[in-house]
Amino acid sequence: MMDFKLVDKEHDEARQGEALVIENNNAISTKKLYIESYGCQMNFADSEIVASILSETGYATTNNYQEADVVFINTCSIRDNAEQRVRNRLSQFGIEKKKNPGLVIGVLGCMAERLKAKFLEEEKLVDVVVGPDAYRDLPQLLADAGEGNKAVNVLLSREETYADINPVRLNSNGITAFISIMRGCDNMCSFCVVPFTRGRERSRDPHSIIKEAELLFEQGYREVTLLGQNVDSYKWGEGEDHVNFAGLLEKTALIHPDLRVRFSTSHPKDITDEVLYTIAKYENICNYIHLPVQSGNNRILELMNRTYTREWYMNRIDAIRRIIPGCAISSDIIAGFCSETEEEHQDTLSMMDYARYNFAYTFSYSERPGTLAARKLKDDVPEEVKSRRLAEIFKKQQEDSHKCLLEFVGKSVKVLIEGYSKKSDKEYRGRNDQNAMVVFPISDKVKPGDYVYVNIEKCTSATLIGTIVNN
Ligand code: SAH
Ligand code: SF4
Ligand code: F3S
Repeated sequence: MMDFKLVDKEHDEARQGEALVIENNNAISTKKLYIESYGCQMNFADSEIVASILSETGYATTNNYQEADVVFINTCSIRDNAEQRVRNRLSQFGIEKKKNPGLVIGVLGCMAERLKAKFLEEEKLVDVVVGPDAYRDLPQLLADAGEGNKAVNVLLSREETYADINPVRLNSNGITAFISIMRGCDNMCSFCVVPFTRGRERSRDPHSIIKEAELLFEQGYREVTLLGQNVDSYKWGEGEDHVNFAGLLEKTALIHPDLRVRFSTSHPKDITDEVLYTIAKYENICNYIHLPVQSGNNRILELMNRTYTREWYMNRIDAIRRIIPGCAISSDIIAGFCSETEEEHQDTLSMMDYARYNFAYTFSYSERPGTLAARKLKDDVPEEVKSRRLAEIFKKQQEDSHKCLLEFVGKSVKVLIEGYSKKSDKEYRGRNDQNAMVVFPISDKVKPGDYVYVNIEKCTSATLIGTIVNN
């Protein structure tokens, strides 16, 4: 099974399996926690909640698992290869455990939730299995494991949002941060394991979200990304106190004009014109929408249980173009879903022509146990056909991405400096409003966290290159 991804979003492929650490000189810290994260941004945000919960019981994070007392792997189940990656990593930790039998190994996140206690049978080295809604129980579970008992808590909750927990920012650039605004998903797309691993959808109290964003701004952060599997169905309160996603976006934008606001993911069935008008109204809400289409064919969309049609999706694209001219749009696309014909695959390619995505994450369909598709449909598109269709989708997207970047060449764009470029400490990197990565020579007049205008002179397939505009 192969996945192609454009590595133009820093959080994506490059971050998979990243060890997350903070500088913690807390004198009471006696034990060391190593935590490695896989999957979506929400999982990375959860690792920050885990670090926060455990810092209260004296754990400091480390980026070297060989010196850790506890090794956590925060896992993803979205596709089979995501799970394989975790299993490979676990066998490496197993070698460490042989040397150091006191080492506690814990599996967190979606794979823990999917496999539950079965994990303990399948992977003997694992001591602790904890699902995404049970992290408050970690201190107790670790205490049990310390006494040599295997510990499992995979209870899902209808209420847990960790609203009161202030995440410890791990591996932070100090400029951009993620804020979870809701958990779970109620959508039941037929291919997707998330409703089973994350449970029912629930929104987080807007006051706690705004408080977290305000605190980040005070600490020098200049961009927050509001996270949920389907942010457009965010809702809190009744009557006059009711807050929907447009309202939450507005409240976040009003914190300060220098605080950029991003969000992900938008569901095509739920994104409203009200949300689009709110984005258009505030300069600091970024003109960038991740709107996964999955397929461009109506029969496949129905089998996927996405609950929108190709025409509906096109109408949403039209609305974005009309209300927010110049807005960047990205997508997720699945190649070779159950029974997909060649013509239906062509519909996906023509949908891409219509939408002209700035980026897309493209995947070949991977059957997930327990999902609607696994129970009711046959995974009957041969592997080589999936790969070929995926390659066609990927190639078109590479061309489209490049075309979208070329449109910025010769223009000046506003960039939030996030830090030094990955390749050179003589260059800064940051993103423009439309989420395109920009690199440019440093200047001693500006620093990370500042906004600058950059004249774009050229681009590669994933990056804009330019120089800072004087004054
Ligand atoms: N909540 C988001 C998606 C989260 S999962 C949404 O509704 O759009 C991220 C992406 O992984 C999905 O958009 C989908 O394209 C892909 N994906 C999910 N399950 C998959 C599967 N079984 N096989 C292949 N790709 C899958
Ligand atoms: Fe999965 Fe669909 Fe929910 Fe996205 S909206 S997380 S694809 S079930
Ligand atoms: Fe993976 Fe779970 Fe996120 S399955 S994509 S880590 S919600």
